[in-house]
Amino acid sequence: MATTRKKATSAAKKDKDLQPAFDYDNAEVILSVRHLKQYFKLGGTGAFKYNKAVHDVSFDVYRGEVFGLVGESGCGKTTTGRSIIRLYRPTSGDVIFKGVRIGAGTRWNEKEIKFTLIRLREKLKELADQEKLELDEATSAYSPEGMTVEQIKDKYAKLRYEENQKAENIVKEQRKQIASAQYDMKNCDRDYARAAMAKVEEQYSELLLRTDNGKNLFQEEDKTLFEQYKEDMRKARHAKITMGMQMIFQDPMASINPRMTVRSIIAEGLRINGVRDKAYIDKRVKEMLELVGLLPEHADRYPHEFSGGQRQRIGIARALIMNPELIIADEPISALDVSIQAQIINLLNDLRAKFGLTILFIAHNLSVVKYFCDRIAVMYFGNLVELATSDVLFKQPLHPYTRSLLSAVPHCDPDTEKSRTRIKYDPRSAHDYSVDKPRLVEIEKGHFVRCNAKEEAEYRALLEAGYDSGYGK
Ligand SMILES: Nc1ncnc2c1ncn2[C@@H]1O[C@H](COP(=O)(O)OP(=O)(O)OP(=O)(O)O)[C@@H](O)[C@H]1O
Ligand SMILES: [Mg+2]
Repeated sequence: MATTRKKATSAAKKDKDLQPAFDYDNAEVILSVRHLKQYFKLGGTGAFKYNKAVHDVSFDVYRGEVFGLVGESGCGKTTTGRSIIRLYRPTSGDVIFKGVRIGAGTRWNEKEIKFTLIRLREKLKELADQEKLELDEATSAYSPEGMTVEQIKDKYAKLRYEENQKAENIVKEQRKQIASAQYDMKNCDRDYARAAMAKVEEQYSELLLRTDNGKNLFQEEDKTLFEQYKEDMRKARHAKITMGMQMIFQDPMASINPRMTVRSIIAEGLRINGVRDKAYIDKRVKEMLELVGLLPEHADRYPHEFSGGQRQRIGIARALIMNPELIIADEPISALDVSIQAQIINLLNDLRAKFGLTILFIAHNLSVVKYFCDRIAVMYFGNLVELATSDVLFKQPLHPYTRSLLSAVPHCDPDTEKSRTRIKYDPRSAHDYSVDKPRLVEIEKGHFVRCNAKEEAEYRALLEAGYDSGYGK
């Protein structure tokens, strides 16, 4: 077992060595997740009303990198992936893909409206009480400011008006934000297609002018160019920003329909998007099968005729046929045998190099992601607790939960492995957040840790003293 594991990781490492180090200074952000919250209704009351599966998660993924999302079972990794890919509507927060907001939650805006109206009601009642008091004093001739009844009524009418106005402005602003979130969620694909079509129009503007929008195609070369324009336009019309993101699911068997042939499984996305051309579908399915290391004749078989690793390859082919720019791979290898794990990792690595793919790779332990991921984010109970490049995270893990995860990674060297001790993480004894609450702090460039001010100072001191965990070796 230990030797196979060693083989698996060293095979992945070999491939990684061929990759150039990621250039973060010149990288483009392809995906931004901002304060993502995903709550599931539990049906209880109070603390049992919601399961806060994802509590407040923010991170950026750069084009071309492999970004690892790691944490124990149930910490919210799959939920984060599913919220990004719009399988769930976020409770709150934003998901921005290629600069376009494709996911947005409005719960906090709705809450803000509710609380503003409650505060307004209380304030108006308070004003009414005060007014009554002053009016009583005025009529009993003890008016402190010497105001008449009319003047007092005027004063309170004005105050009431101001309070109403203030609340109205807040509510208006929140409603605007809700409407804008709903608009973006609904229309991101349509607006994206419109922008793509405008771009094509611009690209061919000279041809369109010269040929009077294709009416006077006298030249042979204009004819071919016009055909190309029509084809590009057709593509642009059907372009969907949300298609640029595809997910490979956690359980290869559960995510594919056992009664569909491999061909229909792989082609499903195309068909859903209106592609009807059978010859084209066949050609694409064949290409995808070859790409993931399966055979064209596999297209007519059913999923149960395949091994776990092969099924995962089918899952990858199904995602790739949509020409995605970002793949969310949800524990694509956890259900597989260790020797097959390395094959799938190598396949993903090859595809990444070939198509310039960006991969959000979800895993529950750190040993797999070390060589494959450029950066790693560690999640604990719906929160991001640490984020850094793989090298830094292994060499200088700061959050006690990250250290605990690292202490669970078996070491290749038998001597080190013998002396390895497992560190347990208990959030109650590890932190005191009773007064000063934690937040995600950038402790050094690109290295984020969830901590409060006291912990931040400790972590900084640790880094200044040249801290090395020893896990990076
Ligand atoms: N559709 C759902 N409805 C209600 N609760 C859910 C739903 N999906 C997930 N949860 C809950 O949200 C929390 C996070 O689940 P999630 O599947 O995201 O965890 P995970 O990190 O992917 O775990 P694993 O490593 O086991 O796959 C869990 O407590 C889970 O029970
Ligand atoms: Mg999961």
